[in-house]
Amino acid sequence: MDSRVFLAFCICFLSLVPDLAHSATDKQTQGSVLRLTTGVSSAPFDPTRVTQISWRPRAFLYKGFLSDEECDHLIHLAKDKLEKSMVADNNSGKSIESEVRTSSGMFLRKAQDEVVASVEARIGAWTFLPEDNGEAIQILHYEHGQKYEPHFDYFYDKINQELGGHRVATVLMYLSDVKRGGETVFPNSEAKDTQPQDGDWSDCAKNGYAVKPNKGDALLFFSLHPNATTDPLSLHGSCPVIEGEKWSATKWIHVRSFEKAARKANGDCSDENENCALWAAAGECESNPNYMVGSKNMGGFCRKSCKVCSSSS
Ligand SMILES: *[C@@H]1O[C@H](CO)[C@@H](O)[C@H](O)[C@H]1NC(C)=O
Ligand SMILES: *[C@@H]1O[C@H](CO)[C@@H](O)[C@H](O)[C@H]1NC(C)=O
Repeated sequence: MDSRVFLAFCICFLSLVPDLAHSATDKQTQGSVLRLTTGVSSAPFDPTRVTQISWRPRAFLYKGFLSDEECDHLIHLAKDKLEKSMVADNNSGKSIESEVRTSSGMFLRKAQDEVVASVEARIGAWTFLPEDNGEAIQILHYEHGQKYEPHFDYFYDKINQELGGHRVATVLMYLSDVKRGGETVFPNSEAKDTQPQDGDWSDCAKNGYAVKPNKGDALLFFSLHPNATTDPLSLHGSCPVIEGEKWSATKWIHVRSFEKAARKANGDCSDENENCALWAAAGECESNPNYMVGSKNMGGFCRKSCKVCSSSS
């Protein structure tokens, strides 16, 4: 045996030995930790911590997705920047206040520091969905009695749907324990009859399949079927907090790149296709304005070559 090969074999074998001493479960857990390198940060992701809680809707719970330190850090970033939470108006798509949602919250910036970037990379690794398709993380705070009535994460209005398409999935991370209440409830889940009803679930939680907010856990559920139609069983709500307070962080993930759509909606000036200059020269800006220039609500694909960017951008 070549000495280098032998050395590599020894190191490899040695690194396995400590595992042999552990109990079977321990070994399983440690053996299956995957380290996926996505961009700047390496995202440790352990599939054995995930349980599937419902197929209709598709929902999964990851125990200990965030460390205590990460939870505390995310709360710290949001603490003095909270504003009353809004909902999207069904017709205009504008943010409006509603009695349906009484929490307060704020949006972080994407990858605003190393912790946020690493959490976002981990979400990408777990969901298999590109980070680009995600909105910035929203931090939410629910005090006594505050809630979010059951609702869908997909949109009814056209304007929001054009921003990267429907939300396909949501990752809801619990940043604090809640003494009582504050459960996430799926009123229409097929699993609602199989959930143990003992313990101290709130009355609200008994109206469906419920997940207790435990610091560090993360809930992933899908708002679209695999065939990309909306799934009405994804109806979900945040039960009123009865005792204590609730902090959570939400990552909404869209069908397409949210970044690109948001840049365009802000009048960002770019060509999305390498042939734009050619097409513009051939008169396509005039003969095919919807695609090239875009409409009032959505920028086109060749705004730069069609020279329609606002002077401010
Ligand atoms: C939007 O429409 C849906 C379906 O009709 C309804 O359940 C929901 O409450 C409406 N949301 C708002 C904010 O009006
Ligand atoms: C999409 O999938 C859902 C769930 O399986 C099914 O109920 C629905 O009929 C399908 N729709 C289309 C258009 O295929």
